[in-house]
Amino acid sequence: MDNKRFFYTEVLRDILSEKCSMNTIKNNIDESDRAFFNMLFMTTFRNLTFIKKEVLSLFVKKKIPSKQSILKYILYLGAVEILFLEKPVYAVIDSYVEIAKKKTDKYGANFVNAVLRNIARNKEDIIKNRKTKYFSDDFIKLLKTDYSKAEIAEIEIFANIEPKLDLTFKIEKTPKNIEYIELPWGSYRLKSDVKVSSIEGFHEGDFWVQDASSSMAVNVLDMDLENKKILDLCAAPGGKTAQLLARGAIVDAVDVSAERLKTLRENIKRLKLGDKLNITCCDALEFCSKEKFDIVLVDAPCSATGTFRRHPEIIHTRTVEDVKKMSLIQKKILEKASSLVKPLGMMVYATCSLSKQEGEFQILEFLDKNKDFEITPINNDKLGNIITKEGFLRILPQHLKDFSGTDGFFVACLQRKN
Ligand SMILES: C[S@@+](CC[C@H](N)C(=O)[O-])C[C@H]1O[C@@H](n2cnc3c(N)ncnc32)[C@H](O)[C@@H]1O
Repeated sequence: MDNKRFFYTEVLRDILSEKCSMNTIKNNIDESDRAFFNMLFMTTFRNLTFIKKEVLSLFVKKKIPSKQSILKYILYLGAVEILFLEKPVYAVIDSYVEIAKKKTDKYGANFVNAVLRNIARNKEDIIKNRKTKYFSDDFIKLLKTDYSKAEIAEIEIFANIEPKLDLTFKIEKTPKNIEYIELPWGSYRLKSDVKVSSIEGFHEGDFWVQDASSSMAVNVLDMDLENKKILDLCAAPGGKTAQLLARGAIVDAVDVSAERLKTLRENIKRLKLGDKLNITCCDALEFCSKEKFDIVLVDAPCSATGTFRRHPEIIHTRTVEDVKKMSLIQKKILEKASSLVKPLGMMVYATCSLSKQEGEFQILEFLDKNKDFEITPINNDKLGNIITKEGFLRILPQHLKDFSGTDGFFVACLQRKN
């Protein structure tokens, strides 16, 4: 019995039904198995729409009964291994047939055997005739609310481009002994996969891992932050907290997740940036403070659709309903955050969602109800086409297409009137 594939089949089912996340599982997998697990799952999520629409539809003619739904996940993984991974095909088929037998019965096993053997026999034609790209119908529906067909097609290209790692360095530090590209927005993009902890300067705390887009929420603050009092209301794991501290700010970092705050603490400790940091674990809506802040940063929880390159499971799990649900939470956090901004102070709102309901529209609705706030237009010559007519930052993966893409991201800067 192939215990690993047996386990992976259950994991795939659980990730697709949002019972667990890819990251949690990855962290609990033996280091020796992690590379294969990662490759298998990333390839599966990137190609699942194709597998469902064009591959299984050829050979599965009857609906799989819900009691035997595990057979679907067995077929997804089997098809991916046969079509995309360089594994001995008949050994792979035998493994999945055995899993099907264990999970269902001999009919289930025969069914898996027949379908996978058909896929293996027709592999070349299946690949040659491929028409479907990567996004699921639900994901396209979600994007259609805000983007044209042509824009969605451009975004979709990046679902199959392996994202590179970006590093943010402390102001006076630069990378040494690694191959990198300096991105126009200030981050350094690694040219090849390396273990981050082996990069020179890691143990000294010179840099941290942060997607270039994500770093923009703080990079847009075109002012001296030395000793400014800043509230980072959704702070963990602390990428933006580190940027603020590195620029000399006094930061109150708040997050509802104790586990993620543990990571924030560890990161800030390695970066030796903890002197002006105060951490509180609580719901943003319950955060109390006697004083108000010069700047409140709301890097809000969101549908995270902009991170589909690194988290391709999102392509199959996010729906319009998720966007609605998250936008209600963001609305409440925004209201709370705004009550903590000093007169003439700033509020920066950011999300890694592609959805305008969690970005542009969220802020326009906020401004409609809160006349004491106004937009501070983001203004930077280097940014050009990523600034909207209202003065927001709307980053799409294709905005760094010459550098193999970036995460989708939104930033708005608002000022409280006197
Ligand atoms: C987008 S992440 C923040 C990333 C972080 N700012 C960074 O740059 O590393 C959103 C964070 O919001 C936190 N969060 C979600 N709901 C919250 C709430 N009601 N109050 C406070 N934090 C919340 C999550 O735990 C998560 O860490």
